[in-house]
Amino acid sequence: MNPWLISIPLAYLLGSIPFGYLLVRFFRKQDIRETGSGNIGATNVARSGAKGLGLLTLALDLLKALIAVKIATHLVPANFDVAVGAAIAAIVGHMFPVWLGFHGGKGVASGLGVFLALAWKPSLVMFGIFLVIVFATRYVSLASMIAASTYPILAWLFHHQETAFTAFGYVIIPVLIIVKHHSNIRRLLAGTESRFGSKEVSA
Ligand code: G3P
Repeated sequence: MNPWLISIPLAYLLGSIPFGYLLVRFFRKQDIRETGSGNIGATNVARSGAKGLGLLTLALDLLKALIAVKIATHLVPANFDVAVGAAIAAIVGHMFPVWLGFHGGKGVASGLGVFLALAWKPSLVMFGIFLVIVFATRYVSLASMIAASTYPILAWLFHHQETAFTAFGYVIIPVLIIVKHHSNIRRLLAGTESRFGSKEVSA
């Protein structure tokens, strides 16, 4: 069987598991989509008052995406493009999960997961950039978008295994992350974006 036909749907399905939504539903009997920014991601779960669940969401969203890529790598070790295809599929699954009417997260934790699985060195540098911006501004959304945007350059600097499709994957994932932050971009421009740790929240 063609490995693409196993790896890509499997990666989408893994990516589509909405851990933030499920954890808050299970442990707090709430719908995270009706709280704070309405996002199902770790930041909003933590913002809802469940810091532990926020951390768990971060870990699980990261791991599901990392595992999706690792499975593809295991199935087809000689073809890095399949791993990149699985990375894109996992991110699409997280952002557009069939289980939530295709309204999913913004792909930050999952993006780190797929990038770590594809090339860990540039991913750690990217994560360092993310942390510096979060500590400097307390805007998780801004840090996420800027850090994700650096990945194609960092990957090119560190990782020398590029095909045209790999380069496409390294660009399209940050683009999807930025597009998914459209409401955050509007709030950042209007000066109403909530800072991490702040009680004030804009949806
Ligand atoms: O976790 C995604 C982050 O970049 C923004 O989340 O809830 O502030 O829209 P949020």
